[in-house]
Amino acid sequence: ATQYLADWQPYPFNILETRLEFDLAPKGTKVRSEIRLQGDKPADLVLDGAGLQTLSLRIDGVEIAETDRIFEGERLTIPAAALPEGSFTFSAEVAIDPEANTTLEGLYLSGGMFCTQCEAEGFRHITWYPDRPDVMAPFHVTIRSEKPVLLSNGNPVRREPGLAEWHDPWPKPSYLFALVAGNLVSIDDHFTTASGAPVDLHVWVREGDQDRAGYAMEALKRSMRWDEEVYGREYDLEVFNLVAVDDFNMGAMENKGLNIFNSKLVLASADTATDLDYERIEGVIGHEYFHNWTGDRITCRDWFQLCLKEGLTVFRDQQFTSDMRSAAVKRIQDVQTLRARQFREDQGPLSHPPRPDHYQEINNFYTATVYEKGAEVIGMLKRLIGDAEYYKALDLYFTRHDGQACTIEDWIKVFEDATGRDLTQFKRWYTDAGTPELTMSESWNDGTLTLTFRQDTAPTPGQTQKPPRVIPVALGLISPNGDEALPTTVLELTETEQNFSFHHLGARPVVSLLRGFSAPVVLRREISAEAQALLLAHDTDSFTRWEAGHDLALDALIARARGEHGGRAYIDAIGALLEHGAEDPAFTALCLALPGEEEIATALSDRGQIPDPDAIHRARDGFAAEIAATHQDALARLYAEMAPNGPYQPDAEGAARRSLRLASLVLLSHLDEGDRALVLFGIAENMTERFGALGQLVAAGRARESLELFRQEFAKNRLVMDKWFMVQTHRASPETAVERAAALAARDDFDWKNPNRFRALLGGFAANHAGFHRADGAGYDFYADWLIKLDPLNPQTTARMCTAFETWRSYDAGRQEKARAALTRIAATPGLSRNTSEMVTRILAGK
Ligand code: ARG
Ligand code: ZN
Repeated sequence: ATQYLADWQPYPFNILETRLEFDLAPKGTKVRSEIRLQGDKPADLVLDGAGLQTLSLRIDGVEIAETDRIFEGERLTIPAAALPEGSFTFSAEVAIDPEANTTLEGLYLSGGMFCTQCEAEGFRHITWYPDRPDVMAPFHVTIRSEKPVLLSNGNPVRREPGLAEWHDPWPKPSYLFALVAGNLVSIDDHFTTASGAPVDLHVWVREGDQDRAGYAMEALKRSMRWDEEVYGREYDLEVFNLVAVDDFNMGAMENKGLNIFNSKLVLASADTATDLDYERIEGVIGHEYFHNWTGDRITCRDWFQLCLKEGLTVFRDQQFTSDMRSAAVKRIQDVQTLRARQFREDQGPLSHPPRPDHYQEINNFYTATVYEKGAEVIGMLKRLIGDAEYYKALDLYFTRHDGQACTIEDWIKVFEDATGRDLTQFKRWYTDAGTPELTMSESWNDGTLTLTFRQDTAPTPGQTQKPPRVIPVALGLISPNGDEALPTTVLELTETEQNFSFHHLGARPVVSLLRGFSAPVVLRREISAEAQALLLAHDTDSFTRWEAGHDLALDALIARARGEHGGRAYIDAIGALLEHGAEDPAFTALCLALPGEEEIATALSDRGQIPDPDAIHRARDGFAAEIAATHQDALARLYAEMAPNGPYQPDAEGAARRSLRLASLVLLSHLDEGDRALVLFGIAENMTERFGALGQLVAAGRARESLELFRQEFAKNRLVMDKWFMVQTHRASPETAVERAAALAARDDFDWKNPNRFRALLGGFAANHAGFHRADGAGYDFYADWLIKLDPLNPQTTARMCTAFETWRSYDAGRQEKARAALTRIAATPGLSRNTSEMVTRILAGK
């Protein structure tokens, strides 16, 4: 059934305290609950529960009569007439089966360890409860188990053999509940908050993984300090526990005082993790920690408001990474991800606003739009009002709403009150779906440059009217001699069409437009290759500077995919950049990375053409070879110069050097057929270089022996073996990708029930653009077979992976027919989960 935002009603009871007792056993775990409720006026007591074996249900200690228990789907109603007035205690005893729980939602087992995932609606799989985010309560938890480590939220209050008690004084909704019980070891540290409170820190991992947990601990301490310094937010419990688990549907979870992580976002060492892994670990540890204030202390009223906590927390983790590493590089990476994931989503059948107003399955809305676009919207707000006003508004948000479950309206109101601005129009960014197209045209007259802007947003599923939005456009002007004629200025567009003029300019400048990517829009403008080259050489804003080079490359690739010539301008411009490439290695590496095949396909369909995946693949290979041939010497020099100059450090400086070394290797491999990659694979002492080299060898079809060596070395390391599966499906040549993926999927060590392993193989395959979109439909069929197989066990991961099909309508009739057949086959599977069924239906229906 569809849920609607408009239907929200306040819960008629407050919870004074929630007491839980767990007797853990793999097959028969008993959960006893005591919930002290208080209501002002008579109301039915409505509770959520799913898959529970109910042993007892009581009000104030008295078993509830059969006639007063109304079960309906996942809901239990106890009529008002059966409840005392004022306050009372509801208690339940249920039995659950964690071992049989393959959904990884609720209480389940991962490698013999009990753990939980309750967001969004997992708690109802544990016991009867008002499982909604606006019902908040302090929790008291008792765990009985023979496992040596027993954890829950809050502070520890009692520990004896076989028993632990935890008390969490901060009222929280059920989705933030967590429990862990297992054979774990910890690395320990301390933190003292700005106001002097001591905090014990523990990162819990499986025996043998301790030596790969140190980086996570350091990242946690940096996060805690950063939130104090930048947002004035301190930690609020005596202990902070962080646990790594191998079987996890998502990245990580911000349960109060007990964050649970996918182990790939905790464990790292130089020889097993890449620079990108390290950066993600730091970012996600920050993200979950920052949720303590933006998520836990202040949570969401209902799940339609998800971006209230996720958009804000992503924005905060992006700021954190910018401060810890390079702000310029981080911004470019974030825009790349936004375009690849969120723009794609927003321009296809799954388009929805950051705050949706209906859904069938909330787990399908943990999307790029809610997360990444939710963060962009906050970035725009900050740009419009300035830093000082932004932090003033945030202070007001924290004081006004601490302990509450809030809405986007509350959030907007805080900004209106703090700044005196009317944000009615700005709010459309939250309620309207679709990516605005911003067209800019220029006219030049005797020292005056006039810019005309027009904004249009195409209709999205269910939303046909798209009134204009507030769009902050940051721009600068660059003179033909390379000087900056106008430093960054922010224009505020509010109408469909608007003009702005700049006077007294000497010579006609080039507009450096949308600096820092100041708004999540698609830009349309006419710009010559010379003007792009000028920006790439002289722009003062690193984002628009990178963008200029990127657009040159994209234009070239589009032309070449159509069988035309192109690319001279990019090749020349890159030549100039390479001369000083070593001065800013990370930026140079970003400029050398050609747009991916998927991006080229999207750009072609944007221009009204049907992308041919095979032609795109060949065009990209051919262009890379030409670039490499032209700049062979410079690339070889940079490749050598960026060799390790000391022991591996997972910091921004080291990562920057390695990224340039690998970007050079990628191009050179098109000339030397992988000779350098083979040497590097043999000598590299860190996973970044080793794995980079391996990827080139797979792409060159020369990886057989290296893959075998790699497998022998890392057979016992699950996370590294995920890489081994992934690199083969992702980088295999398009003609052989399906067969390669099928052969890998037939292996004993393809543990498909583990989401990381499943995503490695199938996600890697879907990212192999021409392989997945093979003309005969074999890619679609293979992929659909596996989704159908996983769905009964793990609906969440299956549903999420359906997004591989979201662009199916941009391809030719033959491919469309085959994709439609695969999707229809999934949709027709008997017993298909609600999660997957919603996704497939939307993908088939939308434009
Ligand atoms: N709140 C978590 C985070 O962003 C994500 C958990 C989502 N889980 C889910 N099953 N939908 O950090
Ligand atoms: Zn989050």
